[in-house]
Amino acid sequence: MTPSTRPTASTGTETSTGATASTIDDGTDLLSRAAALDAADPLAALRERFVPGDGDLVAYLDGNSLGRPLLATRERLSRFVDEVWAPRLIRGWDEGWMDSPLTLGDTLGRLTLGAAPGQTVVADSTTVMLYKLARAALSARPGRTEIVLDSENFPTDRYVLEGVAAETGTRLVWIDPDPSAGVTADQVAAVTGPQTALVVLSHVAFKSGYLADVPAITDIVHRDGALVLWDLCHSAGVVPVELDDWDVDLAVGCTYKYLNGGPGSPAFGYVARRLQGELRQPVQGWMGHAEPFTMGPGYRPAEGMRRFISGTPPVVGMLAMRDMLELIEEAGLDAVRAKSLALTSYVVEVADRILAPYGVEVSGPREPERRGGHVMLSHPAFRELMPRLWERGVIPDFRPPQGLRVGLSPLSTSFTEVTLGLREVAGLLGDLP
Ligand SMILES: Cc1ncc(COP(=O)(O)O)c(C=O)c1O
Repeated sequence: MTPSTRPTASTGTETSTGATASTIDDGTDLLSRAAALDAADPLAALRERFVPGDGDLVAYLDGNSLGRPLLATRERLSRFVDEVWAPRLIRGWDEGWMDSPLTLGDTLGRLTLGAAPGQTVVADSTTVMLYKLARAALSARPGRTEIVLDSENFPTDRYVLEGVAAETGTRLVWIDPDPSAGVTADQVAAVTGPQTALVVLSHVAFKSGYLADVPAITDIVHRDGALVLWDLCHSAGVVPVELDDWDVDLAVGCTYKYLNGGPGSPAFGYVARRLQGELRQPVQGWMGHAEPFTMGPGYRPAEGMRRFISGTPPVVGMLAMRDMLELIEEAGLDAVRAKSLALTSYVVEVADRILAPYGVEVSGPREPERRGGHVMLSHPAFRELMPRLWERGVIPDFRPPQGLRVGLSPLSTSFTEVTLGLREVAGLLGDLP
């Protein structure tokens, strides 16, 4: 970075060639502040429950992409092989595996979604579940011609809906939200009407971290007689969600982020009980049949959530998330949210202090109540800095065009870790030519 654009420290004296290294605020004192925050954190001890990273790991700031494994998961996986899979073999299907999408779904729904039993299933990937529920919703609103979505939503949501629209002859109606914020209730109200079949939005925007007003938007959609499908990938396990109280119709989400289900763990889907009878999902596999083992002619959907299952449950993929769900229950989701807010607020504070002088901007909500569990920082050099950050053991995410996404999984992330990571970012920015 050229001297003229180097930051000046409040205590330093700027020379004619710009600030010298000694005048740059590198946030050294932030480490003692972070240590105090860690000491006061009521959830700090729970970090010990996670498998440590390799010796080079300085800061894992991507728990919202892939959560870290718990020590309990190591145990659970090996016990499963030795005590369940090997001895029980195919009998396992009658001893809980077959029902696991529903039983685990109920647990996940109770602990993280505000969903009463019988409305949540664990299956498929988010992409596939999104397709199934969106397609089912459209069939339940015949004669309506439009799907509402937004241009800042995660690619898979947009791509799947493009496919659904092509398949059904439905028109896509795009909302263009402020990229550093998200979709507002007014924007939804402006485009929905009697022609709207379905609205698909994310609760927490995957880039900006903006937290949408689910109850207000859901209400608007319902007033127009349409259905709403919420993508909860970036909220499940970190932001309290009340699907039943908010009268949500449909929801999907990942389990490998804040639910620590591991790479490729299956998604969850929620369908409000009042809709289950009228919805028919399109991937009519044998496991969603009313009587899968009669293997008879013709598809007849099972009652309740089982009809939203298509194929054999991914039993092994459903193991790890159980440990995180137990930990969330132990900590309490409100306490998890409180720590998440403290961490994201701290990132904003540190970024304003040691990164803003290099031109870094916070490109997400500054009001904590409008923020999910991550913070998006923006700078033109972030793309080229990513490999160097990884080399230094600092692992955030990059999101185009120039976003450094700082993900803060509350139960595995400390304030000290955040400080060390952001100081590396500042150091690399300072080293730029
Ligand atoms: C908001 C959002 N929706 C959907 C997905 C896609 O999920 P999957 O790859 O499991 O289908 C992701 C993945 O990161 C996501 O962040």
